[in-house]
Amino acid sequence: MNTFDENDQRNHPRPEETDFSRMVNTLLSRRQMLGAVGAGVGLFLGGQGVAQAANSGAQVGPRIGFKPIAANSFDTITVPAGYQWRVLASWGDAILPGGTGFDPVTRGTAISQSLSIGDNNDGMSFFGFSADHGVIAVNNEYANYEYLFANGRCSSIEDTRKAQAAHGVSVFEVRRIGGVWKLQPQARLNRRITANTEMRLSGPASGSALLKTQADPTGTVALGTFNNCANGRTPWGTYLTCEENFNGYFGSADGLPDNAAFKRYGISAKGAGHNWFPFDGRFDLAKNPNEPNRFGWVVEIDPMDPTSTPIKRTALGRFKHENAEVVVNADGHVVVYMGDDEKGEHIYKFVSAKKFDAKNLKANRDLLDVGTLFVARFNTVDGKAQGEGEWLELTHGKNGLTAEAGFKDQAEILVNTRLAATVAGATTMDRPEWVAVHPTQAQVYVTLTNNSDRGAKPNQAVNGPNPRAKNVYGQIVRWIPQGNDHTSSQFTWDIFALAGNPMLHKDAYAGSSNITPDNMFNSPDGLAFDRDGRLWIQTDGDYSNAKEFAGMGNNQMLCANPVTGEIKRFLVGPVACEITGVAFTPDQKTMFVGIQHPGEKLAPSHFPQGGDAVPRSSIIAISRRDGGVVCA
Ligand code: FEO
Ligand code: CA
Ligand code: CA
Repeated sequence: MNTFDENDQRNHPRPEETDFSRMVNTLLSRRQMLGAVGAGVGLFLGGQGVAQAANSGAQVGPRIGFKPIAANSFDTITVPAGYQWRVLASWGDAILPGGTGFDPVTRGTAISQSLSIGDNNDGMSFFGFSADHGVIAVNNEYANYEYLFANGRCSSIEDTRKAQAAHGVSVFEVRRIGGVWKLQPQARLNRRITANTEMRLSGPASGSALLKTQADPTGTVALGTFNNCANGRTPWGTYLTCEENFNGYFGSADGLPDNAAFKRYGISAKGAGHNWFPFDGRFDLAKNPNEPNRFGWVVEIDPMDPTSTPIKRTALGRFKHENAEVVVNADGHVVVYMGDDEKGEHIYKFVSAKKFDAKNLKANRDLLDVGTLFVARFNTVDGKAQGEGEWLELTHGKNGLTAEAGFKDQAEILVNTRLAATVAGATTMDRPEWVAVHPTQAQVYVTLTNNSDRGAKPNQAVNGPNPRAKNVYGQIVRWIPQGNDHTSSQFTWDIFALAGNPMLHKDAYAGSSNITPDNMFNSPDGLAFDRDGRLWIQTDGDYSNAKEFAGMGNNQMLCANPVTGEIKRFLVGPVACEITGVAFTPDQKTMFVGIQHPGEKLAPSHFPQGGDAVPRSSIIAISRRDGGVVCA
């Protein structure tokens, strides 16, 4: 979602540090840009071999077995011929005993909301038990007050509790019955995790002075999770939920202490409109200045145990987390790649100290508590859309992270990770969103959704992986770790796709050579590989279908061949939605996709019910009409 980021940016522009000295800040000429990017696609992963194979007619990379669809602005889901979709679950569907289901008149109470699926479903994972039975864990990022409340505002403690219950994570079992996946109300594993669920703070920052509050003098027990954007899934069977724009929930009528971290994280006295702090003192910064330090983490949840306590893993750093892409390196170390979604922020990775134990999954339960956090620096050469990069270690005593620089210990680095990344010399990026690792090869992709500040702020000069000023379209950058070793401190990067509008532009804003009038999109956000190595791209962009975005229609989902760079449009969402969240059943015959905030800001959507129904964020299940594997 863009709204609160934009609000942050207005109120708390990033400090104007300059990029690291090795970065080449020269704006690439239009001709250079197109040439460099055009050549980049395909070269990185195979060069001439790819072209030769393609010319011979052999399948190169995964088959993308559907006929792409056109852009549109309809208030429904559009999928290719031969595919079908159904609604699996929507905001307000009851999942716990006592739940009353969605009431279109009142839109529920704090209690009914706490027993039902939250609002704005975002990242999700599917954990399968059998071919026809599994559990879905899904984030509920925020709440659309224009639909949650009759008057569109949070204006009481009852409203605050209802909004808090609409946030967090929903866990629910699903079964395939007669070929149709169905939500199982009141199943054993169903659970709501909200902004008030008790959680443990673990890892190196646990118990730190910065995490202590009056209510929790130990600095180890936090209440709740919110603004849960995207997700991750560990090979030991747990779900990771990532806290993104946590800052906007805090505020104070009594002004704000002078605090460099508050400024960098966009924490302001007036907040971002959620309006919890006037009614719930926990969110009042004057009363609880450390409470925001207990958010902005990656939280690990065991979806198989509804009584388990979610755990905030402080070793993974505190920032506006997008997703947490987990990969087991060839040597057994677990690596987690993470983006920090704000203009000019960074890309991170965590490397576990211990190795993954495939034989004893329980032994991995605290693997994310001990390890090393790194931030990415992309080194660039003028005129090139590819280059080298390195991971800078964010460990106390290294890369300038000393007491003199403002970091007393490792806990302070982890709580104020953004400040540490700047000291270390990280590259400012165009809003890092999801990171996705190829299922069988050591290749990592990241969506950089857009950045109106690129080229306009001194610390955000145009640079290699962020090559366009006033970047309204976004790009997908990828890297290969040196030696195919995810723990290596070195990598090679290039640009997989520059989104753009080739109908309007002939320069770099037309996009890279794999962007055409038939597949153009803006603001790539969700990103995930399927088991066969297809790259799925979801957008959270401008859906006006006008001006710079003419011809792009509603937000959408596309499928890319990472070897050839080919991109085809697979799905178009309803009016004013974002497409976010994707999960596959193990047989890959069903794909679950998230339709977030249809009709936001009172745009004319009635998805999914139609008629004059209240629009509701929903998860849909997509399958082939012939029952085959999606896209095979
Ligand atoms: Fe919640 Fe960065 O999208
Ligand atoms: Ca987004
Ligand atoms: Ca997102």
